[in-house]
Formats: sequence, C-alpha cells, structure tokens
Amino acid sequence: MEHDQDITLSVNGTTVRRRVQPRQHLVDFLRDELGLTGSHTGCEHGVCGACTLRVDGQIVRGCLMLAVQANGCRVDTIEGLSDSKELAALQKAFHEKNALQCGFCTPGMLMAAQDLLLISRKPTREEIRNHISGNYCRCTGYQAIVDAIEEVVNGKG
Ligand code: FES
Ligand code: FES
Repeated sequence: MEHDQDITLSVNGTTVRRRVQPRQHLVDFLRDELGLTGSHTGCEHGVCGACTLRVDGQIVRGCLMLAVQANGCRVDTIEGLSDSKELAALQKAFHEKNALQCGFCTPGMLMAAQDLLLISRKPTREEIRNHISGNYCRCTGYQAIVDAIEEVVNGKG
C-alpha cells in the first residue's frame, strides 16, 4: 500500500503544508482540501481544460497532475489571479462580450487566455483560437470568447 506523503507548496502566494494521498490529483487537492473550487473538473482525462491551473508559470491540466508532483512548486489558481487583478481586463471583456453562459469552462478559459497574453504580445485571431483549442465550451460556440480575448489584445478590454 502506498503511503500518504507530506507536501509543501505555494498556492496563490501562500505556503501550504499538507499530507496527501499519493494518487490525489492536484485539482482535487485544491478543491477538496483547500476549498479552491474555482478550478473545475469536467472530463478528468486531460481533454476539456476546465481544470487548467498555473504551476511554476506554466499552465497545466490539474486533473492530470498529482498533488505530490506539485511539491515545492508555486501553484496559481483562478482565485489567485482574480484577487491579484491579473485577469481583470479579460474578465471585463468576457462579461461585456457575453463570452460565458453557464460559466463552467470560464475559469480554465481565462487561465488559458491569460497564458497566451503573457507569451504573445499581439496574437492573431487564429493564434487565439489555437491557444484555447484545448479548452472546451459547450455553450458559446467560441466566437464571443475569441472576440473577448481579441478585445484585450487590442487594448480595449
Ligand atoms: S477536467 Fe482536466 S482536462 Fe477536463
Ligand atoms: S459557458 Fe458553458 S461551457 Fe462555456
């Protein structure tokens, strides 16, 4: 039998120490142990992007990464990026462009969009589409989401 493991990580800038089961996924750890339920679990197989998190500056699928693998890492969630106002322009644009309906995909979508804005100063519409292609939305048809991100790229968000 595998033993629980002690991990220490930074979550939204706060140091967290916990004993975790070796097979617990990072997104479940954040939701169930820390109450950070902004990251959603959809497919739990790395397909839908609802669980997107930032770990040491890179976006990852929280349903594919184990909590123990985040030991020593800095994890940023939708809650942290919202509180720090890093997502403020995107959130405003999503709201104004009606880029969310049920909102299930939105946290992951915002995390992916912000990742693009950090790595590309002026992405094209095509590049925006490509970058969010791993994030599924069942409601919007994507048009409004791409419009919202483009709005921020153009400095209007
Ligand atoms: S829940 Fe992680 S990719 Fe779907
Ligand atoms: S707004 Fe409902 S899944 Fe995207």
